[in-house]
Amino acid sequence: MAETELKIPKHVAIIMDGNGRWAKKRLLPRTAGHIQGSKVAEQICEDAYNLGIEYLTIYAFSTENWARPQKEVDTLMDLLRKYMKDSIERSTKNNMVVKVLGDKSRLAPDLIESIDKLEKITENNTGLKFNVAINYGGRDEIVRAVKKLYGDIENGTYCIEDVNEEIFESYLDTGNVPAVDLMIRTSGELRTSNFLPWQLTYAELYFTDVLWPDFNKKELQKAIEYYNKRDRRFGGVK
Ligand code: IPE
Ligand code: IPE
Ligand code: MG
Repeated sequence: MAETELKIPKHVAIIMDGNGRWAKKRLLPRTAGHIQGSKVAEQICEDAYNLGIEYLTIYAFSTENWARPQKEVDTLMDLLRKYMKDSIERSTKNNMVVKVLGDKSRLAPDLIESIDKLEKITENNTGLKFNVAINYGGRDEIVRAVKKLYGDIENGTYCIEDVNEEIFESYLDTGNVPAVDLMIRTSGELRTSNFLPWQLTYAELYFTDVLWPDFNKKELQKAIEYYNKRDRRFGGVK
């Protein structure tokens, strides 16, 4: 299918998986896979925007990933640190609006500071809306949303009877970001691993055996071609 004929999903979410296996295949430490994976993530942002995707959400670190060896966790956090710092410098040029999803409170203070700064300086940009999930777990997000909403019910902002899906959704980390249209997971795993349970309810799911460090624009286009073949009924009849 020619690129111009393709219907482009508005919101694409990616579980970037397979960094460790990519490194293992090359007899490299797992951390080498993460370094290559982070380069690919940067490139995919550019490719996604050039293809016309408006929202891109990537899973960078889950609430369960703290269970990994300390050295690996440290490398992942260092890469995120570097990403935030570099993005602050590049923010005018790439014009992205960056937002971090997840519970920031468990992150190191300097990383939180960089994230806050990056979110602030990019909020009025007009390019790709790029969400990075860090210390993100879908179940955790829902519990935090319930707690915040409860506070607002107690202080009288809302009556419990008025709470509906739209109001509840606004308390999630994604706030008013539209639902995911296409979810991509690399490395052949057929699960969602606690990623965006609310936001993925009607997403089309695309799984590929390609390991994340080997993912590229062509693979992204393949996922979009798959998306174009799906018949999205949203529970209705067509
Ligand atoms: C994804 O690659 C990156 C993160 C989870 C942070 P993995 O590190 O999970 O790679 P595999 O699944 O072990 O190959
Ligand atoms: C999901 O990948 C988390 C991220 C990509 C950040 P994992 O590799 O942690 O997921 P499982 O353990 O295979 O389910
Ligand atoms: Mg994995």
